[in-house]
Amino acid sequence: MTGRIVLVAETGSTNADLRVLVEGGWPEGQWLRAERQTDGRGRLGRPWVGEGGNLYASTFVALRPSDPSPTDIALIAGVACHTALATLLPTGGFSLKWPNDVMIGPAKLAGVLLERVATGVIVGIGINVRSAPDLPDRETIAVSALPGGTMLDAAQILDALAERFAYWLARWREDGFVAIRNSWMEAGHPLGEALVVRLPDGETVHGRFAGLGAIGELIVGLDNGQSRAIHAGDVGLL
Ligand code: BTN
Repeated sequence: MTGRIVLVAETGSTNADLRVLVEGGWPEGQWLRAERQTDGRGRLGRPWVGEGGNLYASTFVALRPSDPSPTDIALIAGVACHTALATLLPTGGFSLKWPNDVMIGPAKLAGVLLERVATGVIVGIGINVRSAPDLPDRETIAVSALPGGTMLDAAQILDALAERFAYWLARWREDGFVAIRNSWMEAGHPLGEALVVRLPDGETVHGRFAGLGAIGELIVGLDNGQSRAIHAGDVGLL
């Protein structure tokens, strides 16, 4: 069952708030949504713009001893975002870029930031609903730019997302990573797509998408016929 959604008008970062709230007993399944963020955090240390009208929300996964690898949660979040948006706007043309960016062609629509805490994982999701920030280094797009997209608001999208996230989390616990992997592969890069991956240490890897590994890592096929498993990095599409 989908849990409650707690709404605040403004905060620094819903992920930062959940770090504190989890210590006070914030339950799995409950979401914190802010209408605006003043100190939003993105992946790889980047900021996340927090203007009104977009979706900023975080939830908590309380890890159980029987759970599969928590690294899978990155892909669960991506699949949940993708399936929620695709259900609301079936002609939207959404795809996934590893590990969990929701894209429209080359433009980013949504991103996920996972943060590990002692008892589980905080999952923070940002979706450009009304407006897309103007960024120097990447294309962005908002739901409002898609056919039918102005009919949707952040609250409706979070309702669908919370339901999908709960569904995929339960599937993962019952069936393991394979169900998530298959859905990710349907929405993600076509096999053989040319990629460039910037690793956290600054190294750049060029290659082609060769699938997902056993714990959701990105497998890149290299020109020399070998492949490389990548666990963290920023993927660019060529
Ligand atoms: C990315 O860089 O792609 C991840 C962006 C994650 C942004 C969301 S908005 C809600 C939550 N709170 C934060 O500070 N970040 C995440």
